[in-house]
Amino acid sequence: MVDAILGLQWGDEGKGKIVDYFAPRYDVIARFQGGPNAGHTLYVADKKIVLHQIPSGVFHEKTINLIGNGVVLDPVTLKRECDLVASFGVDIKKNLFISQRTHLILPTHRALDKASELQKGNEKIGSTLKGIGPAYMDKTGRNGLRVGDLLDKSFTTQYIKLRLKHQRLLDNFNFQEDISTWEEEFFEAIEFLKELNIVNGEYFVNDKISQGKRVLAEGAQGSMLDIDFGTFPFVTSSNTTSAGICSGLGVAPQKIRDVMGVTKAYCTRVGGGPFPTELNDATGEELRKLGNEFGATTGRPRRCGWIDLVALKFACMVNGVTKVIMTKADVLDNFNDLQVCTAYKIDGRESLEVPFQMTRHKIEPVLKSFAGWNCNTIAAKTFASLPEKMKTYVSFINQYVGADVSYISNGPGREQIVEVK
Ligand code: GDP
Ligand code: IMO
Ligand code: MG
Repeated sequence: MVDAILGLQWGDEGKGKIVDYFAPRYDVIARFQGGPNAGHTLYVADKKIVLHQIPSGVFHEKTINLIGNGVVLDPVTLKRECDLVASFGVDIKKNLFISQRTHLILPTHRALDKASELQKGNEKIGSTLKGIGPAYMDKTGRNGLRVGDLLDKSFTTQYIKLRLKHQRLLDNFNFQEDISTWEEEFFEAIEFLKELNIVNGEYFVNDKISQGKRVLAEGAQGSMLDIDFGTFPFVTSSNTTSAGICSGLGVAPQKIRDVMGVTKAYCTRVGGGPFPTELNDATGEELRKLGNEFGATTGRPRRCGWIDLVALKFACMVNGVTKVIMTKADVLDNFNDLQVCTAYKIDGRESLEVPFQMTRHKIEPVLKSFAGWNCNTIAAKTFASLPEKMKTYVSFINQYVGADVSYISNGPGREQIVEVK
């Protein structure tokens, strides 16, 4: 069977840490979408590591890691990351596998991402500029190159053909930057990539399932950044929700068992787009400071606000969440007063639903107050030892979203997590 860990907000919920925590219970950890726009943080022997392309199970010797066909892969980032994990003694040749159907991010995809954002001006998405949108456009536009193509002698010709197409687009954007160094790095990384385990991902994962192995699908980004269900157009270019697991790995829906959705105890967003509970005040600043809310991929300050239960309930619905995992509860340790958003006022009318688009309307959050617990929880090991006021906060969330918080993370460390029981 396949279980999943994915984000329920706008990304950066702490998926990396949670996957790393659960990894020993699984045989295979598989990324099914997204690319190096992801930044998944975990700690190995007190050392902070941020993974962008490689699944977060890579530091567990017995766990196999698969980059699925739904991912877009930047060979340069991958090579850099392989070198990093190898320096921790990880044998990448033994425990990393890549689907031959995975689409490649070319240097010109990165250039196109940049050119497109520049042209959008004030309406820019706030993309990570990793080439994600253009690479997925080439996938759905049926132009893209895939990892399996690397092994064919026609690869360079195919590359040149696509590059020419991209150059015409870049000329239209009037994009002048010299990308020759990016290309040099790319071709160097391609040689490295060819030596890795390139497999038929869909057979690989289904064979594992038939053998009774446990597979964990690792989501990137978050449900509110999903191309279909997120705050379009301020989204990423893939299905970040559980539906993406089937198409991004080649597994059938009935194989998916637990969908573990990760949410922060509050909410953040990085990049542009609507964020109804955003706090542009001292409280927002306090959340950013205490939560160290700066992007793991781009270093940008994250926008901060209260937890949005309207969006969270919506995310639980579209994902079929069976368990909620709440991270960064410790960040709320020092607040006297906490708020949660229980409804939206859309152009003055109260609604419990996420509207199909959020930019053309005035959306105000309807907030409910909770007393903060005002004590330090980072050392808690059991649910019983957590403050009653935190339990009241969590219990309200359970009832509202209709799925239970099963784990509470109370610090960035691997062992800082409490099972609710
Ligand atoms: P991801 O993209 O979902 O994997 O999340 P990121 O790694 O981008 O951001 C989460 C940040 O919060 C990282 O710096 C983690 O080390 C940190 N973190 C994760 N869980 C907790 C937690 O429970 N408490 C605190 N204080 N930090 C956490
Ligand atoms: P993880 O996996 C937070 C955001 C970008 C931008 C929008 C589109 O670490 O949670 P893209 O580069 O995909 O074209 O950017 O999506 N974004 C993320 N925000 N966490 C992420 O990944 C993100 N990946 C993309 O900031 O607003
Ligand atoms: Mg992140």
